[in-house]
Amino acid sequence: MNEINILLADEDATMELGAKLGAALTGGGIVYLQGDLGAGKTTLCRGLLRSLEYLGAVKSPTYTLVEPYEINNRRLFHFDLYRLGDGEELEYMGIRDYFAEDNLCLIEWPERGEGFLPAADLIVKVLPLAMGKTMGREAKINALSSLGSNVVTQLSLSLSFKQLAPNKVE
Ligand SMILES: Nc1ncnc2c1ncn2[C@@H]1O[C@H](COP(=O)(O)OP(=O)(O)OP(=O)(O)O)[C@@H](O)[C@H]1O
Ligand SMILES: [Mg+2]
Repeated sequence: MNEINILLADEDATMELGAKLGAALTGGGIVYLQGDLGAGKTTLCRGLLRSLEYLGAVKSPTYTLVEPYEINNRRLFHFDLYRLGDGEELEYMGIRDYFAEDNLCLIEWPERGEGFLPAADLIVKVLPLAMGKTMGREAKINALSSLGSNVVTQLSLSLSFKQLAPNKVE
């Protein structure tokens, strides 16, 4: 399966999606996180890290661009490229090493690093979703590799999420 849309009714659901992605990507992978300011991208990363029992603060590394984590022999890198001026900066930072095969890279604002980033296994786009008086989110998830497809299939089999119709108008 290459595509799934999931209802994220509240912050906990976004955290749960993060946890599920972490469980499905034990061997690493490249995940692009798209969506506007405040969409829920960092919340998803926090959910993933919490599920690995990381107890520290998880903030968007807006100024440092990347935050490395090493948890139970897993290497994770959380990028926030919102303030990236020029993609070449990424080369100077030596980020190529970060993209080793078994590392898990979660990349907020990947658009800013276009041309300097490896191809994504998964693209997760978080969008606002009106739910009566409250505002939830929709996660539109696309797989771009066989690894990504396996993850989408696993998510589709999970009972934790309500799936939304694929062609819902945005
Ligand atoms: N499914 C959800 N329903 C309602 N609110 C949510 C949901 N998921 C996350 N939120 C809330 O939305 C906000 C998202 O903030 P977050 O920092 O995760 O956004 P972001 O996409 O990383 O933004 P930025 O681009 O500025 O880094 C938080 O206040 C969080 O509680
Ligand atoms: Mg963020």
